[in-house]
Amino acid sequence: MKDQDLSIGIDALAIAVPEGFVELADLAVARGVPPAKYVEGLGVRRMAVAKPHEDPVALAADASRRLFRTADVDPSSIGLVVVGTETAVDHSKPVAAYLHGLLGLPSRCRVYEAKHACFGGTAGLLTAMDWIASGSARGRSALVVCTDIARYALGSAGEPTQGAGAVALLVTSSPRLLALEPGVTGSYARDVADFWRPLYKKDAVVDGHLSVQCYLDALAGAYDAWEETSREVGQDPDDVVRRCYHVPYGKLARKAHRHLAALRGFADAEADASFDIEVAPSLRFPSEVGNVYTGSLYLALASLLDAEAEQLEGGRVGLFSYGSGCCAEYFAGRVQPGAGPFTEKLALGAPLAARKRLELPEYEAIRRGDVEADQRPAAATDDAGALERVAFLGVDSDRRVYRA
Ligand code: CAA
Repeated sequence: MKDQDLSIGIDALAIAVPEGFVELADLAVARGVPPAKYVEGLGVRRMAVAKPHEDPVALAADASRRLFRTADVDPSSIGLVVVGTETAVDHSKPVAAYLHGLLGLPSRCRVYEAKHACFGGTAGLLTAMDWIASGSARGRSALVVCTDIARYALGSAGEPTQGAGAVALLVTSSPRLLALEPGVTGSYARDVADFWRPLYKKDAVVDGHLSVQCYLDALAGAYDAWEETSREVGQDPDDVVRRCYHVPYGKLARKAHRHLAALRGFADAEADASFDIEVAPSLRFPSEVGNVYTGSLYLALASLLDAEAEQLEGGRVGLFSYGSGCCAEYFAGRVQPGAGPFTEKLALGAPLAARKRLELPEYEAIRRGDVEADQRPAAATDDAGALERVAFLGVDSDRRVYRA
């Protein structure tokens, strides 16, 4: 049986962030750069810094547990787990397998990891929608988790665009937050060398200015495909009241919004006039956390819902996902009736409040420790953070050990 008449979408979401962050103004001073270049030029304020025990598995587990708790989700209702990440912890064992254990999920469950730079989470979300639409879900829900630690070399141009965090999305056939539109998406792909991470490196390699151009080209291609599909199915592509973008740094969302406006026949001044209403509410969480790669678009969505879910009920939101290399998708969803009070219950921004500012020497020491963390014996770990959070303790006979 195919459940084609079902409304499918994001039922609930939750975020997890490391407990430490760096003020970008502090980083600018340390690197001999005017703070205005980072804060205004790139549109970044803070970046989350993951300690070695806050690895992508621990962040993913924290976001998922928070999702289950705040949205009253029974883990036994999960039948599919897809983890999108480009900072995986193993070449074979997926983060999703660790999650399955840490979350106590049912054995009748499909679990795997999806990789395509920052696009992996969206690939998971689209697959989860298809899984439900095909009838394979049989009443069960999908858990899609985006988790990453964005690292560039210390002192590089990419350094101020780092960050870390996870976003967990529950995808169901009765979404309480955002009903998506299965089949109405616009894809774009092209083989480009804008950003990648060779297997032997922990830091990403990037051709920064090319990556910005590739992102904007992909936006044009994906939007064009989406617009055409929307018209084919009788939808008005201009019926969008808010726009969320992949946000490697805030300024790129502004550039994206101008680029999209130009494609739609509007001048820069008109794009700038609509920016504060259509885009700015989605940038508060990203400006607190930095780039979270796969989760970046969904951190922006969380920020938007946290700010405006109630007033947006019934409104349509445009979403742009970009993964270097590259693959991109434009799609949209409608904010559901009741999303306002439900979002309040989810307290999406709460994890941002309980954090500590790191001094630059602490940040640099964490980065040095991070390089060795994957080889450190579990028994040697002494700094595993607050007790209620999942922590990566180290390795034992090449096995990663977690404190649940
Ligand atoms: N006061 C105010 N603004 C200033 C300034 C000052 N003193 N000095 C410079 N600026 C402005 C510049 O005018 C510029 O603004 P515009 O882009 O509007 O012209 C902005 O600050 C940045 O300056 P530069 O272009 O000189 O910055 P840079 O060359 O040092 O690096 C970057 C910028 C290329 C984005 C770099 O940070 C980088 O490589 N980041 C990582 C790659 C990335 O995030 N790419 C995004 C697209 S790829 C993607 O989306 C996938 C992903 O997640 C990685």
